[in-house]
Amino acid sequence: MANPYQPAPVKILAVQRETYDTTTYTMAFTDPDRQAAYRFAPGQFNMLTVFGLGEAPISISSDAEDRASFQHTIRHVGRVTNAIQRMGVGDTLWVRGPYGNGWPLAQMEGRNVLVVAGGIGLAPLRPVIYYLLNHPEKFNRAEILYGARTPADMLFSNQLLQWQTEKVKVRLTVDQVPNGDAWAHRVGVVTTLFQEMDSQPANTLVVTCGPEIMMRFVVKGLMERGFEASQIYVSLERRMNCGISKCGKCQLGPKYVCRDGPVFAFAELTLLPEPVLV
Ligand SMILES: Cc1cc2nc3c(=O)[nH]c(=O)nc-3n(C[C@H](O)[C@H](O)[C@H](O)COP(=O)(O)OP(=O)(O)OC[C@H]3O[C@@H](n4cnc5c(N)ncnc54)[C@H](O)[C@@H]3O)c2cc1C
Ligand code: FES
Repeated sequence: MANPYQPAPVKILAVQRETYDTTTYTMAFTDPDRQAAYRFAPGQFNMLTVFGLGEAPISISSDAEDRASFQHTIRHVGRVTNAIQRMGVGDTLWVRGPYGNGWPLAQMEGRNVLVVAGGIGLAPLRPVIYYLLNHPEKFNRAEILYGARTPADMLFSNQLLQWQTEKVKVRLTVDQVPNGDAWAHRVGVVTTLFQEMDSQPANTLVVTCGPEIMMRFVVKGLMERGFEASQIYVSLERRMNCGISKCGKCQLGPKYVCRDGPVFAFAELTLLPEPVLV
């Protein structure tokens, strides 16, 4: 029987610095057959291994329809992610996955979509944005609200405004603008964008990811505006070991974040013995 913990080698094909502590890596399995067969759903994650140091769960941040390679956008915070920062084009990493569920794309059909992202939380949402851009017939209208600490902390800064189309509106905000930085958008936390957004509760599906404190205020602010818990989907981060519902590390009551998430309907989270984001 195949060992479910066995990762496969991937080569780093490109490295794009996003911010002072975050980098996007384009990679492909060294076995071309494995790469050709590799599929993921927007919202899923891989376990990335640096031998001798450990593994880290990282969301896939690229277009799920790009079969030649895939991307991870990584904030360098500790052992594994700092080791990856020292790698470059041609280096080898080890990957197993994809794991977890994905964003509810089927439910977007014929509806409006509101994407609310904070900081690194835009990474797991970028595959949804590619999906919306690739399939404008699959939804009604979409609005993307993205907030970061400062203009220099914005991910994918050369893409953000290019995502605007007739059907997709992008609104940006930063918590603060350090002296001298150019900034033509809002200043304030991401929920300040609720004042100017077009999205209304009727027939809208919300997908949100960011620091848990941000998601808590996003959920609260949306519910005050009439959105229901069943319309709001969040992606949660928990410490993980196995990634495949064996070790219990990521358990939330009866749920495993690695298997039942990382994407959950907020309505589901309110039913947990210790509710999350409330
Ligand atoms: C489903 C999922 C998707 C993720 N997607 C991304 C992504 O797309 N990009 C990205 O940069 N990161 C992502 N993360 C977070 C990433 O897994 C952690 O930052 C990574 O595991 C840190 O590993 P490390 O060995 O570098 O750090 P460590 O040496 O393990 O830890 C460094 C510091 O970070 C803290 N820390 C580490 N992991 C977490 C965590 N999950 N929650 C709270 N504190 C933590 C530690 O306590 C320590 O203080 C995701 C996590 C999950 C569960
Ligand atoms: S990480 Fe082991 S059960 Fe989820």
